Amino acid sequence: MSEFGLPAGFVFGTSTAAAQIEGAVNEGGRGPSIWDDYASQHSNILDASSPAIACDHYNRYEEDFDLLKQLGGKAYRMSIAWPRIQPTGRGPANPEGIAFYHRLLDALLDRGIEPWVTLYHWDLPLALQDAGGWQNRETIDAFADYTRILRDEFGGKVSAWMTVNEPVVHTGVGHAIGRAAPGLMLLGSAFSVAHHLLLAHGRAVRVLRETLDTPIGVVNNHSPVEPASGSEKERNLALLYDHYHNGQFAGPLLTGEYPADLAEIEGMSFEVIREGDMEIISTPLDFYGINYYFPTKVGAAPPLFPVPFMPREYSDVPKTDFDWPVIPSGLTTILKQLKEQYPNIPPIYITENGCAYNDGPGGDVTDTRRIEFLEKHLAAVGDAIADGVDVRGYFHWTLMDNWEWQEGYTKKFGLIRMEPATLDRVPRASFHRYAQIIAEHSVPE
Ligand code: NOJ
Repeated sequence: MSEFGLPAGFVFGTSTAAAQIEGAVNEGGRGPSIWDDYASQHSNILDASSPAIACDHYNRYEEDFDLLKQLGGKAYRMSIAWPRIQPTGRGPANPEGIAFYHRLLDALLDRGIEPWVTLYHWDLPLALQDAGGWQNRETIDAFADYTRILRDEFGGKVSAWMTVNEPVVHTGVGHAIGRAAPGLMLLGSAFSVAHHLLLAHGRAVRVLRETLDTPIGVVNNHSPVEPASGSEKERNLALLYDHYHNGQFAGPLLTGEYPADLAEIEGMSFEVIREGDMEIISTPLDFYGINYYFPTKVGAAPPLFPVPFMPREYSDVPKTDFDWPVIPSGLTTILKQLKEQYPNIPPIYITENGCAYNDGPGGDVTDTRRIEFLEKHLAAVGDAIADGVDVRGYFHWTLMDNWEWQEGYTKKFGLIRMEPATLDRVPRASFHRYAQIIAEHSVPE
């Protein structure tokens, strides 16, 4: 047992996503994704940038993995870009895309690092969006075909598979309120997107299991929810928001049911659910991935607001550059809540946790806030373990500053500072501290 209360065998790693680091969007036969399209309307991205270059990891992965090896850690969570594998989301695999990921996976394996691969981290091939995207049930069949290609090509090289990343954010921000790709404002009727993403997940689990016995999980963003006041109205709204953010995904995955009160949200209707869907969605998993960033305080929304609830600010707590409150105990809380609510939850991995601070040249070179963030969140995981939650690993978000979606390059989450103008990589003090933690705590079981 370590200073953070993490047991022997605990897995340490970092997490990235293809669209945020690869760049090279026109190289290797890659097709356009919904994020290329969304970013082409510059007002959608805070600094008018696009994923075209990102970290140019496509051409620099050897250098990046040398740094990753220096960091240590058993595993690395990455995603595969669907538009590199199938440029239009359908049809035969693109040989250059396949060859690229073979090189990438080999580069990790050569360095003794386990690849943990996410199938879908939000970069839908644009052609599929043009055919209705995740509102269209046929996208699920396309996803199953894509999964089959990855399974058959990379099955022997991947140590763990994760199906979809944060369906709540992809549904809510991308499809309900239009503040991320594909930029749709479907409000409550974005439920069809959530349901189809969950079904795609379930289908992918089944496709992978047909021939592989590699561990399979899902990655959800979870946030403990509390009411802004003790009033009955706000307590009920907090409960409803909890069902929207957490229960809408954990419920069907772990119990085969959606929280019934979701249908009270304007525009949300369970009509898209067909016979047999819930069995597919709740196909048993080997592990459950949790991305934790901050808790949510919920109050009543003003009249005419499209949804009844609204997040309220946490005053009196430190905030990151994203204005996200830093509340490590929220991680212990959500872990304990999930275990209590879903006693059959499989072993948990923290698949993302991190903070945006613009520390480095021209800023605070000592990077103390990220170090503190990391240490306190690891201790929060240790507290949950002490209370009986089975957490097996932690992946820090993220290895290096990258293209943070609608925030462009403005939010810097990296253990390594990456300069967009020069693409130089400079490890921060937090990189060295995490390396030390990993070295001291990576004791075999
Ligand atoms: C979660 C997402 O999965 C990741 O892509 C994003 O960069 C981080 N949150 C930080 O916002």
